[in-house]
Amino acid sequence: MISYIYITFLLIIAIHATLYNPPAGKCPQEDSLRKCLDQHHIKGLINFRDNFVGYNKDINFEYNMLIVRFPVAFVHPANILDIQNTIKCGVKLNYPVVARSGGHSFESYSLGDKDCYLVIDLVNFNKVTINITSQTALIETGNLVKLLHYELNPHSFAFPAGVCSQLGIGGLALGGGVGFLNRKFGLASDNILDAQIVLANGSIVNNVKEYPELFWAIRGAGNVGYGIVTTLTLRIYPVPRIVTWFEFEYDLDQTPFILSVINQLAPKLDRNLSFVTELTILTKVHGIYQGSVYELQPHIKEFIKLSNPKSVTYYENELYNIIDVKMTESKRGYYKAKSFFIDSKGISYEGVMYILKFVKSFGCKLYFNIMFIGGGKVSDIGRNETAFVHRGLLYHVEIKAFVHSEACIDELERFSQEFRQKYANFESYQNINDRLLDNWQCRYYRENFNKLVEIKRKYDPDNLFRWNQSIPTDTVISCD
Ligand SMILES: Cc1cc2nc3c(=O)[nH]c(=O)nc-3n(C[C@H](O)[C@H](O)[C@H](O)COP(=O)(O)OP(=O)(O)OC[C@H]3O[C@@H](n4cnc5c(N)ncnc54)[C@H](O)[C@@H]3O)c2cc1C
Ligand SMILES: *[C@@H]1O[C@H](CO)[C@@H](O)[C@H](O)[C@H]1NC(C)=O
Ligand SMILES: *[C@@H]1O[C@H](CO)[C@@H](O)[C@H](O)[C@H]1NC(C)=O
Ligand SMILES: *[C@@H]1O[C@H](CO)[C@@H](O)[C@H](O)[C@H]1NC(C)=O
Ligand SMILES: *[C@@H]1O[C@H](CO)[C@@H](O)[C@H](O)[C@H]1NC(C)=O
Ligand SMILES: *[C@@H]1O[C@H](CO)[C@@H](O)[C@H](O)[C@H]1NC(C)=O
Repeated sequence: MISYIYITFLLIIAIHATLYNPPAGKCPQEDSLRKCLDQHHIKGLINFRDNFVGYNKDINFEYNMLIVRFPVAFVHPANILDIQNTIKCGVKLNYPVVARSGGHSFESYSLGDKDCYLVIDLVNFNKVTINITSQTALIETGNLVKLLHYELNPHSFAFPAGVCSQLGIGGLALGGGVGFLNRKFGLASDNILDAQIVLANGSIVNNVKEYPELFWAIRGAGNVGYGIVTTLTLRIYPVPRIVTWFEFEYDLDQTPFILSVINQLAPKLDRNLSFVTELTILTKVHGIYQGSVYELQPHIKEFIKLSNPKSVTYYENELYNIIDVKMTESKRGYYKAKSFFIDSKGISYEGVMYILKFVKSFGCKLYFNIMFIGGGKVSDIGRNETAFVHRGLLYHVEIKAFVHSEACIDELERFSQEFRQKYANFESYQNINDRLLDNWQCRYYRENFNKLVEIKRKYDPDNLFRWNQSIPTDTVISCD
């Protein structure tokens, strides 16, 4: 009995946390780094590799287990001075520095792109202040979006964050932020009004608004190497106290037909309505309407009539409860993700058939998600108004594969290359980062890339904040 309990206990640990043995030996200048951080009296917790328990906890915070890297140390600054001093030590001892908010980077770039990075974990930057009168929220970037939803809910206010509520507000909002409220309120990054940033030279920019170029860059590329963003001022919006979650089910083979109905109705769909088409063993259209089931009916009647679902489910509740109940987070695991955009023509019949063939035959578990982003606020904003270039498009397609074998990664890659070339737009969403993506500079940022490089040169000329898919200081590639 006792051994049974003990084994169960071990199994639980094994599922929720993996024990990692960092490589033996030290990073270059590791002792000097210790000394430097000591001399600067960093108040926050610092975990070097020899602090086995703390260091492991920090590694285990990362969502994607497929990619593990071993930083020289995790610094958890207690205040902004700690961040400045950590940066100074990084510069002095030539360590690349990287920020971590929610740890949900698909390529684990919040651990850098190889061993021995210096990670600034923002977990202590966890304040949220809401001002209903000015319709703004001041949020420190170490928060998960779930807390923001939670704080806004009693006031019947909302922020257009992503679908998953365990994401860090830092990584999400600085790189875009696609979710169910975008059609009405725009992307998370479109609703950044101001920010505080610590730059590579250790200076604090308290109001990024006073630096128009930097302000432009951080709305779409703020998480790829301009500094450590500590606070965001966000626009928040009133929503009805009760909103509706709806879910329609179809046979998988109905998918081409459903998508053609969406295409046909897209231009007139009310902006209170937002949904995603998800393909598993069946096809689901589910989403949120900002109003009651009763108010939803006139907006969805035609869609239901034309698409003829097998089952129709409605669920009314407060927005926070819907986010909490319907969008529960998948556990950390071995993931590979892919991102595509589809323009206003939609996906052709051949394209949808190609998707179905892939979904039915793929060797690993799959989450195939076609988010409708057309005809809303995201497209009211111009491609170069902020660093987020992907505007005027109809769908964002996200594939998240639970890859337990190299073969699945290869299979996903083969599908993706052909699908992208034949049926999708050229672009790809920078927050669904993908180390296998060719020409990522232009796919993520397109005509805004060169300007991003210019701004990078000005604010981080020595490339302190650098990894494979951060904005470089040189322009080997031009996307014009
Ligand atoms: C399960 C899952 C679901 C997702 N769902 C959605 C979704 O619905 N909509 C959507 O738009 N995206 C979604 N994403 C993608 C998500 O937006 C990105 O992974 C995002 O970057 C995560 O932010 P984070 O703070 O959690 O990650 P982190 O790994 O902490 O950070 C991501 C990147 O941003 C940088 N960064 C983080 N904080 C800061 C900061 N304060 N200052 C400067 N740089 C910083 C990091 O260095 C890193 O490179 C999802 C990802 C996962 C894994
Ligand atoms: C980063 O780029 C280098 C060189 O281009 C490559 O060798 C390495 O595998 C890349 N790392 C990741 C994590 O993509
Ligand atoms: C909230 O915003 C209003 C309007 O801008 C301002 O007058 C008020 O002082 C703010 N409240 C707090 C607590 O900061
Ligand atoms: C959304 O719903 C609100 C209230 O139910 C309504 O006033 C508004 O016109 C609707 N449409 C849009 C685009 O906001
Ligand atoms: C965006 O592009 C237009 C022309 O295409 C140009 O006039 C404008 O200055 C650009 N805006 C920014 C912010 O770069
Ligand atoms: C740091 O860089 C910024 C942006 O270039 C500049 O405004 C600031 O004066 C610099 N600070 C120091 C201490 O050099």
